[in-house]
Order: sequence, then structure tokens, then C-alpha cells
Amino acid sequence: MDMDNNTWSMPRIGDKAPEFRAMTTHGKLNFPSDYAGKWKILFSHPADFTPVCTTEFLAFAKMQKEFEALNTQIVGLSVDSLSSHIAWVRNIEEKIEWDGAKNVEIGFPIIVDLSKKVSTLYGMIMPGESNNACVRAVFFIDPADKIRAIIYYPLNLGRNFDEIKRVIVGLQTSDAHEVAMPANWQPGKDVVLHYPVTTDDAKARVAEEGVTCHEWYLCSKKL
Ligand code: BEZ
Repeated sequence: MDMDNNTWSMPRIGDKAPEFRAMTTHGKLNFPSDYAGKWKILFSHPADFTPVCTTEFLAFAKMQKEFEALNTQIVGLSVDSLSSHIAWVRNIEEKIEWDGAKNVEIGFPIIVDLSKKVSTLYGMIMPGESNNACVRAVFFIDPADKIRAIIYYPLNLGRNFDEIKRVIVGLQTSDAHEVAMPANWQPGKDVVLHYPVTTDDAKARVAEEGVTCHEWYLCSKKL
């Protein structure tokens, strides 16, 4: 990003995840190579010791085992210092009780990005929202280090972590079965077949056992 020239760039869906080295609350990180073979969720938060971010950390940390079971590594980031990250994490773990969460361990690393090197590389700072803090960005990166989905939220709206899990499960299911997920899809619900590329393709799927075609281009099935 070059703020002086008023131009701005961010990695896009389908791009290789930009590589970087950074210090984190768990030591030095080479991203994404340290997480070879895993799905990765790289997310930014605006600032340590702030209310919405604290509730987000509790929500994410509570679900960490569910993400591990999905072969997914979570990595946080803000433009705060290492001592700030460590003090905030300790404070959350020891003192905060929120929405049924108490004594929750924040088990994922948080990147120290005082220089804004990583947040700039990933387009996490949006000057119209804030010049000095990241927005709430979420990058979903697959085991081949390709960016598969991106979510951006503003400062004043906390993210939905069930949706973040749904994105990971949806992408993994789509890859494993070569299908797509319809609106509001949830695990266990019917999936849709990719758009047919030939008329023969369209005819074949109408006849396929277990496939329901609502129209030639909209066919669904159970997995
Ligand atoms: C928050 O997490 O509450 C927050 C952080 C920065 C700006 C606005 C809200």
C-alpha cells in the first residue's frame, strides 16, 4: 500500500498468501511456511485492551479446539507491541468473564506489527476507517498457501466466529467433494452441483441418482 499516492492494494482471493517474518506472542514466525500442510486463518484486530476485540478473542479462543480439529491454525495480529499483547492476553485469561466464557486460554499466536509491515502487506489498514489501527480482517488460506476467502469488518462490529468456522468447513467440503455451497449452507445440509459446462453434462446430472434438479442449472444433493 502506498498511502502517499493514495493507492492501495491487498492480496486477492486466488493469490498466493504473501510471505513475511514476524515476532509473535509464541516467538518468531515465518508465515505461511511454519504452518505447512495446514489451513490458516490470519486475522487482525484494531487494538489490545479494547472491548469488542476482547469479546472476539474470547469467542475465538473458546473455539480453538474446533479449528484444530479442522486442521486449521489461527494467527492474530495488531499494531500493538509484544508486551501489550502479552499483558492483554494474561488479563483476558485471568480476569474476564463474558458470555459464559471464563478462564479461557488464548492458545494462538498474536503477531507484533508495530511497524505496520504485515498489516500493510495484507491491506488490513483502511485509512477511511482508521489510519493507525487495523480493521477486522480475516484471511482464509489453504494448505497450498492460496487465499481462498477474505472477510472485512469495521471497528465497531465484532465478527461472527460461527461464520468463520462455516467458511472453513464450506471450503474444505467444496474441495473434498467438488461441489458448491448454497446460500446459508450449514454442514449436513444439501450441497449444489457446479454449473454444467455442456448440455450432455446438464442431461447427465438430471438423471443422476440422489441428485434433485430444480432446473437444469440448479441441482442439489446430499453428501
Ligand atoms: C473495540 O475493540 O472495542 C474497538 C477497538 C478500536 C476501535 C473501536 C472499537
